[in-house]
Amino acid sequence: MKQLPITRETEEHLFFHNYARLPIAVSHGEGVWLVSDNGTRYLDMFSGIGVNALGYGDKRLAEAISTQATKLIHGSNLFMMQPQFDLAAKLIKLSGLSKVFFANSGTEAIEAAIKIARKWAGQSGDQEKKEVLSLSNCFHGRTYGSMSLTAKAKYVDGFEPLLPGTGMIAFNDIADLEAKVSDKTAAVFIEVVQGEGGIHKISQPFIDRLKELREQFNFLIVADEIQSGCGRTGTFFSYTDVNADPDLVCLAKPLGGGLPLAALIGSEKVANVLTYGNHGTTFGGNPVACAAGIAMIEAIEKDKLMDNANEIGDYINEELQKLAARYPQILEIRQYGLMIGITVNKEAKYYVEKALQKNVLINATSVNVIRLLPPLTISRAEAQHCIIALDEILAEETAEQTATEAAC
Ligand SMILES: Cc1ncc(COP(=O)(O)O)c(C=O)c1O
Repeated sequence: MKQLPITRETEEHLFFHNYARLPIAVSHGEGVWLVSDNGTRYLDMFSGIGVNALGYGDKRLAEAISTQATKLIHGSNLFMMQPQFDLAAKLIKLSGLSKVFFANSGTEAIEAAIKIARKWAGQSGDQEKKEVLSLSNCFHGRTYGSMSLTAKAKYVDGFEPLLPGTGMIAFNDIADLEAKVSDKTAAVFIEVVQGEGGIHKISQPFIDRLKELREQFNFLIVADEIQSGCGRTGTFFSYTDVNADPDLVCLAKPLGGGLPLAALIGSEKVANVLTYGNHGTTFGGNPVACAAGIAMIEAIEKDKLMDNANEIGDYINEELQKLAARYPQILEIRQYGLMIGITVNKEAKYYVEKALQKNVLINATSVNVIRLLPPLTISRAEAQHCIIALDEILAEETAEQTATEAAC
């Protein structure tokens, strides 16, 4: 097939305009490095939006995928498939929960959680107990249910009407939590560490009160671990750190080792909510993606990547604190394993562009937050490479500001 030139013009011509792609055509990757078509190597501190937990080119992952691909690429959920069974058993063991539903993307896992929560709540006999709540500044996805929970103007404007029966509680605001939940609440969706919202962690008192209110009003707690899960924060699930005790847990992003895979894991309480034909998907739990998922989790465990996330995350935090002491541009650093947010005093995209010029890939979220989600395999030397680049960028910016002030 004829290869089209990869340019902005062909991009404009071919695609809907919903992405702001970087002007890099990526070809392959090695470890924490992403390599472009022209051979430029980029230190990837964002791992394909938090997906490539093992970095690039992990042989075990590639082998698991190719072995399964030569056996069976797609079977469908009309059949039983070994990789699905093994991965489900692994997730049940890791979470201590009871049942798994596989989907293809984070937003689909959230949709399944909304459906299960509403059906479960309706079984109480109160058909008005259908309210699903989320926390301000959250992100749960872009399909109608998950977008309705997200409800930020940027994601929602023009797409209304939203799913009825959704609402939002102010993040970490216990008084608002108490005011919003009631016996009409079916579920409260949380991210223990908000990702798109700017790397903010839920507070322990908020979680404790949420659990008390769950006892009082009998609703479900749904932990969206799509960005924070699979070891990113130094534990397999970030909710264990605050003992959130969720009834439903959503996983995606790194779960399939880069292949589309999501899982919804549920407690005994909701184990029998779905019945035959109630919910489903053609591709969800694809055997190649599940084989990749097993290889991915085994590699995380064998290579002690959660320890690495803690160790290198702490190192990055220490080095960033040193930069913060020297540069007033840095306002705050929030680090949970290798999920790191740096609040800066201007639009974070300024730093994203500057870092790109130094062949380092970082990301901007929540306007003025630099977000780092490097592969969990990152070494201290690679982390230092990123710190040096940030130091240079901040120093150059400071020098420019001083020169401008002197000229005025
Ligand atoms: C916390 C969280 N939930 C849900 C989603 C949606 O996942 P997906 O893009 O796979 O649909 C994302 C994606 O960024 C996310 O970070």
